[in-house]
Amino acid sequence: MKLIIENDAGTAATAAAQLIAEEIGAHDTPVLGLATGRTMEGIYARLAQAHEQGTLDFSCVTSFNLDEYVGLSAEDPRSYHYYMQDHLFRFVNIDLHRTHLPDGAATDLDAECAAYEAQIARSGGIDLQLLGIGDTGHIGFNEPPSSFDTRTRCVELDEATREQNAAMFGGDPNAVPHEALTMGVGTILDARRLLLVATGPAKAGIVAKALEGPITPEVSASAIRLHKNYVVILDEASAAELSPATLARAQRNA
Ligand code: F6R
Repeated sequence: MKLIIENDAGTAATAAAQLIAEEIGAHDTPVLGLATGRTMEGIYARLAQAHEQGTLDFSCVTSFNLDEYVGLSAEDPRSYHYYMQDHLFRFVNIDLHRTHLPDGAATDLDAECAAYEAQIARSGGIDLQLLGIGDTGHIGFNEPPSSFDTRTRCVELDEATREQNAAMFGGDPNAVPHEALTMGVGTILDARRLLLVATGPAKAGIVAKALEGPITPEVSASAIRLHKNYVVILDEASAAELSPATLARAQRNA
């Protein structure tokens, strides 16, 4: 593991955006795995800024997002399709035909998930998968327990996750869809490199569990420790419950 601890959420987002930009620059046809959520907003803002400044070209990038709510169309402002347009795609020169998210409005969800896996495989696999971590320890929407060989599938969202994401649904956890399509833990582990980013004090407990607790389907983010090439970027607040031994291994950019 490469663990980077930045001062705050802003510098953590800058470090993550730099790493993503380097990955894009390292391939002729880079394939990125993307995530949504509050943690990613600062990262996408910095990628958009780099593009605007002429230092980052998305024209050859292919992307696959982790997840989407079941029942929401791409035009729904609460969908992750909409989020990606709103936070990244409309600001950069990515070819929209090369952007992919699972279709939560598909009539046959199982067929949609199988097709999504096939598309990832056809693209040659994901070079860098960006990950956040949820209050339940999920990566993507892999709620506990999610075995480490799971593939893209329909899952039931945990109550804690619906609470975490209620803000986009008028503050009402019951208004958050109860199901989502998500890449599986196995799909995520197939990516050639993983980048997990967490910021803020609310993430400190689950970050410590994921990085130092047992590697278990009960905390799907713990699975990243089985990967041979993964980077974790935290801010001081989300790193607050890590042990001195783990902190000693971290690179700090004060
Ligand atoms: C979203 C996703 C989730 C989020 C996680 C953290 O596509 O895959 O795993 O990364 O729920 O969300 P925030 O950043 O809103 O705390």
